[in-house]
Amino acid sequence: MKRKDLLSIRDLKKQDILALMESAKQMKTAVQHPSKREFLHLNQAMITLFYENSTRTKASFTLAGKYLGMHTTDLAVSTSSVQKGECLLDTGKTLDQMGIQVVVVRHNHTGAPHLLAENMGAHVINAGDGSNEHPTQALLDLFTMLEQRGSVEGKKVAIVGDIAHSRVARSNFFCLQEMGAHVVFAGPETLLGGVHQLGAKTTTDVREAVADADVVMALRIQLERQKANNFPSLAEYQEFFGITEDLMRYAKKDALIMHPGPVNRGVELTNSLVDGQSSVILQQVQNGVAVRMAILNSLLEGEA
Ligand code: CP
Repeated sequence: MKRKDLLSIRDLKKQDILALMESAKQMKTAVQHPSKREFLHLNQAMITLFYENSTRTKASFTLAGKYLGMHTTDLAVSTSSVQKGECLLDTGKTLDQMGIQVVVVRHNHTGAPHLLAENMGAHVINAGDGSNEHPTQALLDLFTMLEQRGSVEGKKVAIVGDIAHSRVARSNFFCLQEMGAHVVFAGPETLLGGVHQLGAKTTTDVREAVADADVVMALRIQLERQKANNFPSLAEYQEFFGITEDLMRYAKKDALIMHPGPVNRGVELTNSLVDGQSSVILQQVQNGVAVRMAILNSLLEGEA
């Protein structure tokens, strides 16, 4: 179904997700082979508007746009009129007058992309809003799982770490549930808040979560979002919840190691797991460009 914006995974049904996955497969060829890039959206324009830091999401959206032939620009919030007190809506309405078709927004407040979507003519893509959602991350994570395993139906995905503050955890839960996977969240009790209400399975026993898992996804400890000390120290977190080779012995033999990045090496995952054979962390990054090309294409289709 043609839609104006991509704000939440919950707006997508299984067939929408599968259509994006199919399109991303074609787009991946264009990521890997420059000569195969078709400029499907030549002269259409996209702006990235990030109120929070990013490496992967911002760079991959910019490149995804360029590989589709789009004009892309970044509004550097730290040197923009936001610093003179301009409100989000005025910034959005201002950018909307500049001939853009897409705005990709990341904001520390839940709902900021939704507010822009209601008030802008341009397509709005949520690139992460507070602790709420990061839908494009969940789609690239799913793409990576499908590429590696063919299907996620009935597969066990253990998501370990700072669940309470994680938009990646929430979007992955909605996406994987829609696709028939079985998600288990694990972390310290203080970092599991908010997901019980979604009906998600949670445990403070990381071995239980990892047992027979097909995928083990570690999440970053988001010190910037924690108002209280939710665990005594990073060393203690690592000891009780860090993913190690020993812990991975409980998972399926061929279990995938995933992480949305950036990784706190030696905290969420040992160095050797990050760089090891089972890790698909770099594939996640490459797939991020292809999946974002598919998302841009689906929003812009027929509008050239
Ligand atoms: N995974 C992710 O969103 O990474 P960035 O913060 O680098 O965009």
